[in-house]
Amino acid sequence: MSFTHTPLKRTRLNRSELFIPGSKPDLFPKAVNSKADVICIDLEDAVAPQDKDEAKKNLIQALKELDFGKKTVSMRINGLDTNFCYRDVVDVMENGGERLDLMMIPKVGVPADVYAIDMLVTQIESRTKRDKKIGFELIVETAMGMANLDSICSGSGRIESLHFGYADYAASVRMRTTNVGGPNPDYAILTHESPEGRLTHWNDLWHNPISQMAILGRKHGLRVIDGPFGDFSDPDGYNAQGKRTAILGCEGKWAIHPNQVELANDLFTPKESTIERARKIVTLMKEAQDHHDGAVTLDGKLIDAASVRQAEQLIDQQDLIDSMS
Ligand code: COA
Ligand code: MG
Repeated sequence: MSFTHTPLKRTRLNRSELFIPGSKPDLFPKAVNSKADVICIDLEDAVAPQDKDEAKKNLIQALKELDFGKKTVSMRINGLDTNFCYRDVVDVMENGGERLDLMMIPKVGVPADVYAIDMLVTQIESRTKRDKKIGFELIVETAMGMANLDSICSGSGRIESLHFGYADYAASVRMRTTNVGGPNPDYAILTHESPEGRLTHWNDLWHNPISQMAILGRKHGLRVIDGPFGDFSDPDGYNAQGKRTAILGCEGKWAIHPNQVELANDLFTPKESTIERARKIVTLMKEAQDHHDGAVTLDGKLIDAASVRQAEQLIDQQDLIDSMS
């Protein structure tokens, strides 16, 4: 380990994050009754420009009247390049009471974007004598945001998590695809001639940005969350994308439809067999160390102190899940 240590900024269960357009208040109770860990009421791209004010009123009313139980509640504000942004922050924070936990900032490009929102939020918290401090969720969805991500993560102490925004990211770097997550047949390699002919192997066009986001997010002690999967009638595709991002370090995924919530919860809950093995590793290594052994074998495979660190982060995640149920 380096002498520099970055602890996790804030532990929160974030396996599934269900989005609801602020302009569709009829959907709010359905989201509240879902099994989503986090609910994000959107004021940005899922709301038409002429409905922005109404959406904000709906959000404020929901924050005051709905019982969200143990769920984390977030709002997605409009981007800093719009004239909706400052009013989203001011109106909701001044009139929405204390229930809001998080604020999601889209299209962050430079550290000052986060700093500017922090300045507004800090003044309002102070003036309204708010007890609960708002945390920030940042969407990584532009070339600028990705290129500056390391310094952006230092832009405010409120940042808790990074989220990958597929569609805007693709548009920003001019990827030739209209997919919101999932594969694209053009991103493939062709094998050499074989008895079966030349085979096409599909690749994951999202691998690089999601992996970069995971590395930089974890460097800063943040949660790393996979974004939306647009085809909500394709659970297999959703699961395949989510498994890939879980392997890369994501601990949750957005749901844009209720039928994606349980898929995300399952994907990002460690399997029982994984936890069993993790506990075995911890016990075995403890015994090994008592006998002055640094490395031993479990089921014919090496385990050592690094295996304990791998095992402990899985057990921590399971403990967090258990503490919320
Ligand atoms: N939250 C809560 N309930 C939702 C929901 C959501 N995001 N999306 C759909 N539902 C409800 C519907 O109201 C419907 O309820 P009912 O059976 O009582 O009538 C049920 O789930 C099935 O919905 P369905 O008919 O399959 O979908 P739809 O055509 O009504 O809506 C979308 C499809 C994509 C428009 C809708 O899911 C949606 O708005 N999603 C969120 C989009 C968003 O916020 N994007 C921003 C982040 S990318
Ligand atoms: Mg976006």
